[in-house]
Amino acid sequence: MTSHPLDPLTEHEISASVLVIRQQAGLDKSAWFETITLDEPDRTLGPAGASERRAYVCCYEPSSNRTYVGVVRIMAAELESWGHVPGAQARIVTEEFALGAEMVRADERFQEACARRGITDLDKVLVETWSAGNFGLEEEQGMRLAYCYCWLINDAGDNRYGRPIGNLHPVVDLRRRKVVRIDDFGVIDIPPDTAAIRPTENLRSDIKPLEITQPEGPGFVVDGFHVAWQKWSIRVGFDIREGLVLHNISYLDQGRPRPVMHRVSMPEMVVPYGDPSPGNFRRNAFDTGEYGIGLALDALELGCDCLGHIHYFDVCTHDWQGNPVIKKNAVCMHEEDFGLLWKHTDAVTGKARTVRSRRLVISSICTIGNYVYGFYYYFYQDGTIGVEVKATGIPFPTAIAKGEVPEYGTIIAPGIQSHVHQHAFCFRFDMSVDGDHNSVSEVEFNTPPIGPANPQGNAIEITERNLPSEAQAQREINMASARYWRVSNPNCLNTFGNPTAYKLAPGSNALPFLHSESSVAKRAAFMFKHFWATPYRADEKYPAGWFPNQGEGGLGLPEWTKADRSLENTDLVVWYTLNFHHLPRPEDWPVQPVVYASFEWMPDGFFSENPALDVPPNRL
Ligand code: CO
Repeated sequence: MTSHPLDPLTEHEISASVLVIRQQAGLDKSAWFETITLDEPDRTLGPAGASERRAYVCCYEPSSNRTYVGVVRIMAAELESWGHVPGAQARIVTEEFALGAEMVRADERFQEACARRGITDLDKVLVETWSAGNFGLEEEQGMRLAYCYCWLINDAGDNRYGRPIGNLHPVVDLRRRKVVRIDDFGVIDIPPDTAAIRPTENLRSDIKPLEITQPEGPGFVVDGFHVAWQKWSIRVGFDIREGLVLHNISYLDQGRPRPVMHRVSMPEMVVPYGDPSPGNFRRNAFDTGEYGIGLALDALELGCDCLGHIHYFDVCTHDWQGNPVIKKNAVCMHEEDFGLLWKHTDAVTGKARTVRSRRLVISSICTIGNYVYGFYYYFYQDGTIGVEVKATGIPFPTAIAKGEVPEYGTIIAPGIQSHVHQHAFCFRFDMSVDGDHNSVSEVEFNTPPIGPANPQGNAIEITERNLPSEAQAQREINMASARYWRVSNPNCLNTFGNPTAYKLAPGSNALPFLHSESSVAKRAAFMFKHFWATPYRADEKYPAGWFPNQGEGGLGLPEWTKADRSLENTDLVVWYTLNFHHLPRPEDWPVQPVVYASFEWMPDGFFSENPALDVPPNRL
């Protein structure tokens, strides 16, 4: 198989890149690999830019507390660039998580704190070393700091988060590999054990088989990482930080492929929690930028939620020594029957036509500690692209003293509270609606006053206004005006003489409750606007900056958009934040039923009529 420039790095390419770094980068033996991923060709350079496979590599060197980044030319086996990034802290990788926990369990002060709570078997204690953030504290400067949360595994042995250990927070310097201190804010009784996740008894017995069969096989054609499905053409990609990536999305219209997007990914997310107490104010997770979604993808050979004929894509990640780690079945693809596509019944003749909807689903699931996120991209027959996040797993449990009423959470089990929080996912859409010259606009609806033009007061005024520059393209959802956004191509007109366009139709969403002066608000500025647009730049990838771990904030979108660059008839990137506001319920314990949050890109004058008129009826 000849590889495409956008194919994820192979096992061999990762090993080859590691060798180049070890031999040429001048790092000492303590250095480890945060990231080895495809350095995607800068598409503005044309085919020449894509002629060579390159790896983007980030290393952390504990001896010097330095983070380095660079690019390896894989075939030439040489460094194209390499340099220290002042002030940057690499992501916290899996091995550091494990190392941090080990250090804490071996610490006498921690053992004493556990003993005060009646815990003697340290093997049953889960310690998680979360990024400590940046609160400007003098004594924390120069450390690679992690703030820890602790739990006791349940008796059934299937829930490591089953019994939260209250008020106990070790503080770890991952660079020097030492426990800095143990924050113990007072003993709270260990909650009773109610948290079995895999019951084997009293399972319901009235579920009958529901079979999905595809006797003629699937409707998609796969060639390496390229997928053709009905009129859609898509390239599957992977990044160790962002996880699933899609490239080169186009729709075949009367035999002509029409581009819609160059690239789609979820380059940052944050989960800020709302409890201000000393042990919990630091709790927020930039799961993409601080830990890496791609690193945490589930190998779906262990189980996947899909039915029917499934095609899996394997991807290659790596451990911190740079050894390649094949992740089998990391990306899942299948077709789904999706109920009604369209229907009309003629009331006079009684004739009806009912057409069922089919969608192509490309998804991946990532497990980060207690939580599980499923990322689903849907391609519909009518040209719509759906984006959905499924949130499940164990809501973050914290112990609460008997009789205490939670102020910033709910009681979800005896002795356990779970704090109010949000999950904000920032998606990046590198647009190409009928080509690389696009503009962006906002559509709103208003009630004009009663007067000669609106004598009965029923008028709904439609306004579409251009968002000509970055400062004007930072927008929030507004239910009062039914606001949405369009990306159009002024150089490409539809049958009605209007620019062809896609609209971004928001679904459920929320705004942040963070105080604008808070540390996390500065670091996650992207979540204060649902919609941002920027001109395309190959190096503008992460809305909270390249190194959010312990970062001060202000980087990424807020920094780039200060220039207030033009968005007119140019190469555009749209950023949309999907925020899921969550006050956990007792029903979310011990494991949360999936919560769905989604939005859609719909063709809006991209076609001249319903593009799914040609879908035959009754074809199941
Ligand atoms: Co939640």
